[in-house]
Amino acid sequence: MTVSTPAAVPAVRPLSIGPVVVDPPVLQAPMAGYTNFAYRQVVREFGGAGLLATEMIAARGARWLETHRGENPDRLWGVRDEPRPLAVQMWDNDPENLAAVGRRLATDFQVSVVDLNFGCPVRQVTVKAHSGSWLLRDPARVGEIVRRVVEACDGTPVTAKIRLGCADTCRTAVEVAQRIEEAGASCLTVHGRVAAQFFSGRADWEAIAAVKRSVSRLPIVGNGDIDSAETAVARLRDHGLDGVMIARESLAKPWIFAQTAALLRGEPKPPDPSPAEQYDLVLHHYDLVCRRFGPDRGTLLMRKFACSYAQGLPGAREFRGQVSRVLSQGEFLDVMRKTFPGSPARRDFSQPRLSKIGGAL
Ligand SMILES: Cc1cc2nc3c(=O)[nH]c(=O)nc-3n(C[C@H](O)[C@H](O)[C@H](O)COP(=O)(O)O)c2cc1C
Repeated sequence: MTVSTPAAVPAVRPLSIGPVVVDPPVLQAPMAGYTNFAYRQVVREFGGAGLLATEMIAARGARWLETHRGENPDRLWGVRDEPRPLAVQMWDNDPENLAAVGRRLATDFQVSVVDLNFGCPVRQVTVKAHSGSWLLRDPARVGEIVRRVVEACDGTPVTAKIRLGCADTCRTAVEVAQRIEEAGASCLTVHGRVAAQFFSGRADWEAIAAVKRSVSRLPIVGNGDIDSAETAVARLRDHGLDGVMIARESLAKPWIFAQTAALLRGEPKPPDPSPAEQYDLVLHHYDLVCRRFGPDRGTLLMRKFACSYAQGLPGAREFRGQVSRVLSQGEFLDVMRKTFPGSPARRDFSQPRLSKIGGAL
């Protein structure tokens, strides 16, 4: 494995989100359905992410659960006890719902950062609930929401995540960013696409830089299409931003944060884990998931993570086809054994990692 030598990287300052120091200023993005306790643990074990984030939670649902059942959303599982810094993201369009849940996150859960979602393009959130990216058509409302949540969180920093607008005909990011700044937010992440694009086309980093130039003190984090540690460093360096956020690529390579952090320190980029190490990593992730959900639910949940991990590896297509149909732990391990690189021609499934899985169930 070759070790890349670092390009000259100017010193990058840590990002301050209120009192929270994000060092390095490389953030793990919230991703619904993915960035749960197990994924966050894996990212934390590799290191290098300055701030981790949960999946987004629905504020309305969280309030209902609390009042009617005295429960918390499943997506908050692990949050209370996890290392900090940790951001929890939520969505809604009602300032009072968001303020009530924000207050609980700040005081009861003691999260480091309360993040507001104004970027989700999914129909259930936009058309059906007039939330997420739907709100980008109403900058004043975004400002009102941020202001209420900032007041409610009483010193815990509040941040927001937006896209460039709802559609090409509604590119409101600059006005929205200004309202968010005036309302007292501590940081803003901008994904360089409009909502109508979903994930098509390329993220527009010039437009993200224009948002940065339009605000006076609000730190701006750029997001979109970072596919390597080198790209992360280049985006940070070339666009005058305060931080970068990585989403999809980190599902295949949760070590991308550690590699980026090394480059930012001016050190050589650590190599990707070997195929055998990656194989172990998938089993470790599977172990974490099965410990919580048991073998059946754990196996179903793990299918999509295993597919992400296989990205770019030889035989990935065939592996995906097979792993997305597995129903039991035996089937999962069988597919791993047969097709994943570094698999048991060289590694023995009765070794400690696996017996740990077995022991947990
Ligand atoms: C499966 C998936 C789930 C996502 N869920 C969320 C979410 O809950 N909250 C959010 O703000 N963005 C969410 N996003 C958007 C990402 O955080 C990020 O903005 C987007 O993927 C662009 O970054 P990337 O090119 O590095 O993937 C999600 C993206 C994906 C692919």
